[in-house]
Amino acid sequence: MKSQRALLALAITAGLLALSGCKPSDQAAPEASAPAEDADAFVARVNQTVKDTTPELTSAAWLGATYINKDTQRLESLANERWLAKNNEFIAQAKTYDAEGLSAPTARAIHLLKTSSSLPAPRDPAKLKELTEITSRLGATYGAGKWCVDGKDCKDIGQVSEILADTEGSSYEQMKAAWEGWHTIAQPMRKDYERFVELTNEGAREMGFANTGEVWRAGYDMTPADFQTEADRLWGQVQPLYEQLQCYTRGKLEEKYGEQGSIDGMIPAHLTGNLWQQDWGNLWPLLQPYEGVGSLDVTGALKKQRDAILADLVSKAGGMGKLTASQQVEIERQADLEMATRMTKLAESFYTGLGMPALPESFYTESQLVQPRDRDVVCHASAWPMDTVGEDVRIKMCIKPNEEELTTIYHELGHIYYYLAYKDQAPVFQNGAHDGFHEAIGDTIVLSMTPEYLASIGLVDKPAVSEEAVINGQMRMALAKVAFLPFGLMIDRWRWGVFDGSITPDKYNQAWWELKAKYQGVAPAGGARGEEFFDAGAKYHVPGNTPYTRYFLSHVLQFQFYKSLCDASGHTGPLYTCNFANNPEAGKRYWAMMQRGASQPWQQTLKELTGGEQMDASAVLEYFAPLQSWLEEQNKGKTCGWEAAKS
Ligand code: ASP
Ligand code: SER
Ligand code: ZN
Repeated sequence: MKSQRALLALAITAGLLALSGCKPSDQAAPEASAPAEDADAFVARVNQTVKDTTPELTSAAWLGATYINKDTQRLESLANERWLAKNNEFIAQAKTYDAEGLSAPTARAIHLLKTSSSLPAPRDPAKLKELTEITSRLGATYGAGKWCVDGKDCKDIGQVSEILADTEGSSYEQMKAAWEGWHTIAQPMRKDYERFVELTNEGAREMGFANTGEVWRAGYDMTPADFQTEADRLWGQVQPLYEQLQCYTRGKLEEKYGEQGSIDGMIPAHLTGNLWQQDWGNLWPLLQPYEGVGSLDVTGALKKQRDAILADLVSKAGGMGKLTASQQVEIERQADLEMATRMTKLAESFYTGLGMPALPESFYTESQLVQPRDRDVVCHASAWPMDTVGEDVRIKMCIKPNEEELTTIYHELGHIYYYLAYKDQAPVFQNGAHDGFHEAIGDTIVLSMTPEYLASIGLVDKPAVSEEAVINGQMRMALAKVAFLPFGLMIDRWRWGVFDGSITPDKYNQAWWELKAKYQGVAPAGGARGEEFFDAGAKYHVPGNTPYTRYFLSHVLQFQFYKSLCDASGHTGPLYTCNFANNPEAGKRYWAMMQRGASQPWQQTLKELTGGEQMDASAVLEYFAPLQSWLEEQNKGKTCGWEAAKS
């Protein structure tokens, strides 16, 4: 994700000028008589204020996420409170202008102000204060969350994830305990979340919307209702592909775990190698179609490199035996940091290979690449624009040497390069064309990480060329990209329902699992999880208040971007074989698209890159066509699907 707390504080996310179709707030008559300040001057003042305020706000948020304690939470929520109060004034004033007669950039800026906020905030100062305090507390509770047994033996998210990731080494019961253990961290969030919903909904109503979910859906240059239909349409395109993958995976789990391998046709939640069942890459040993055909063991290669770095450091220090216990800890940390830096430079080299600039020196000194040992931090990966001039950009991660983390770095650098590309836009336009664009920049590059590319950077051997190798390569990508699709959709189906009141607090958990069942076909082992749990809160973006539909959109858009960049690079042959690394033409076109930021409707920006104005999953289907046929063949004779999907 990109830095959400900073950006939600700025309340300027990807909202767009409705050139066609009105949004609720546009229909409302101007609130007061003609304002004293003319619109151009107003927008200039807003831009100047955002520019002046950003460094302080982002520093407070950065501290809140990298040193979790009472003081940083206080400073972070106070900074947010001040900004949101100011922003509410801007929104109120923005509503007094009549769009007619304004210059296009001014009209667009005013529109963005009226419609773009992931955290609509109430005007009442006491309620605003309460909201920002809750927001900070929820984020901190997640970041510091640990699974403890009898108050001892506490494990953080990295340690829990390792148990789940080791789908060969951990037992069914160990994985179940780890999965359940992590979900205990969210139980204390429930009351806060309930109140959070009331408070932000009040802010949304004051902005002229029905609820916060409607504000989120308003940022796509179409009505909130049309947006919802659009998301459904895209899901309809890819659903059959997901169902084939789900069916195949379930079958393999049944082979391995017998009756415990599935639950009414659904996949047990603790068995996918991932806490949220959103990325199944860790099931590779089980799901690999053709063993021994071209090794794609990127994780193994990365771990080896890290061990070699450590061995080198230790030998330079005269051997482990020469070191005190604390020196041993320090040398391990040094090895982790060196490895994380190496992985980050690898990702950077993809971008510079496309002709994009080198990262500023400060990126490496200011970023958090590895988990500090002495304090709680939010380990969830993020990318931060600390100012509006492109001088201070950072990522915050707890990098470990494995494939998922490597691709996450490529993802985060996508945000960073987007920030750098649009830094000369006015501050209110410094954003993605829509939020799905922001999430798709780096992932498009991940699609270019083909076996050939991985071999070129020394992570896998020269790839095999055969039909089997194609299917292996496709499966590797599908476990990340196809498995994700229904998850990308269901999170906000839940939150939209929570915000519009159709999901009431006494049904929070029930509704969560109904949606998990319907879209993903996954279920908790051990029967229904009651309302004493708050399982949504165990996923970062819920306590972190980051809208999630953006990731679903990104998983469609990135295939469209990829296809266009492949065309630009002169690629011929099947789409999935394309790797546009080091291609200047692809780089030029991508950068030009990124420079637009949010200065124009996303449809226009999409058209400039791809020639079309619609999001469309046909590139996903084209990419995965060989795998889809292969899966259908494998699944022949099985009854695929599950009951909950029909409702
Ligand atoms: N890139 C991810 C996200 O956008 C971060 C992660 O997967 O850890 O939230
Ligand atoms: N980065 C997002 C997440 O962690 C989507 O992959 O959920
Ligand atoms: Zn992201």
